[in-house]
Amino acid sequence: MSALDRRALVLGIESSCDETAAALVRGGREILSSSIHSQAAIHAQWGGVVPEVAGRSHLVKIMPVIDDALAQARVTLDDIDAIAVTTRPGLIGSLLIGVSAAKALAWVRGLPLVGVHHIEAHVYAATMEHDFAPYPCIALVVSGGHTALYRAESPLDLHLLATTRDDAAGEAFDKVAHVLGLGYPGGPRVSKLAESGDARTFSFPRFRAKDGSLGFSFSGVKTAVLYHVRGQDARAATPAAEDIPQRADVAASFEAAVVDALVEETLRAVRREGLSTVLVAGGVACNRRLRADMVTRAAAVGVRALFPSPAYCTDNAVMIAGLGYEVFAAGRLADLALDAASR
Ligand code: KG4
Ligand code: ZN
Repeated sequence: MSALDRRALVLGIESSCDETAAALVRGGREILSSSIHSQAAIHAQWGGVVPEVAGRSHLVKIMPVIDDALAQARVTLDDIDAIAVTTRPGLIGSLLIGVSAAKALAWVRGLPLVGVHHIEAHVYAATMEHDFAPYPCIALVVSGGHTALYRAESPLDLHLLATTRDDAAGEAFDKVAHVLGLGYPGGPRVSKLAESGDARTFSFPRFRAKDGSLGFSFSGVKTAVLYHVRGQDARAATPAAEDIPQRADVAASFEAAVVDALVEETLRAVRREGLSTVLVAGGVACNRRLRADMVTRAAAVGVRALFPSPAYCTDNAVMIAGLGYEVFAAGRLADLALDAASR
């Protein structure tokens, strides 16, 4: 890569789930702009993401969001050196909108095009704002769709160590939010309510595999909260939000159980792999208790834990432009046959 390439300006495009996003990042680190259109308000009425609705909204918003990112960065398409787009994993109809827009722009402008893996990009986000070489390290990805531990040798070389056996951590937050009458999206609301509760009030279960292997499971804690709120009668209706006693204590105790499991397994992975750095990313990495507990408990055993700023934990295109730069620098260019994949 030439000296000029290290200043390469990459346009990142993200449309894998319910955020339409575009961003401009120079050299994988210097963030010039980030534009995000969230569909949360659109999906809230159904209590979750409706794929067909998501695809249609991406189609309407993709070009305005790209224009906004360019305007915020005060650049034009003439200034761009490469276009990076999320190709997987995600909702296929949503991914295809971003991929089609990226291909069209790359073709019309004669620009290099690169495909980016959404999960690898979440992990990369944790490195972008720190002047610290983290590799090799452990990466914990905690989002609405994924909860997994990786051994990362470099930004583009991740090995899966463990994953969840059932729900993703964010999914558990969203489901508990529903039980507590907090609505969608649930993670930030449960976390906000938990701030006024006492996490020591209730002891919800923390999963540990019987054979000692690494892994997560959040269906147990989710069900425990459900039974706690509704009682043991499976046919009983969930009480109205205002009738749930000690709602903030339930939220805090649930949050503590999830965070405990995440920190515990991550530090076990660090020990097992003999490493000293942890990258934590994905929507749940916004969680204040997770950020505080991971940093403190990691530091106590000589391990450094790095997080992205909250704005770059949830879905965004800064992470796509960032990792896109690494893919571009590695010479892994895509052509117009670039395709999206749900997994
Ligand atoms: O990474 P992301 O934006 O989308 C996926 O790729 O899934 O993550 C969204 C998830 C949702 O489940 C949301 O409830 C959760 O992240 N989340 C949180 C917090 N903020 C977002 N969970 C717990 N505490 C938070 N503060
Ligand atoms: Zn994501």
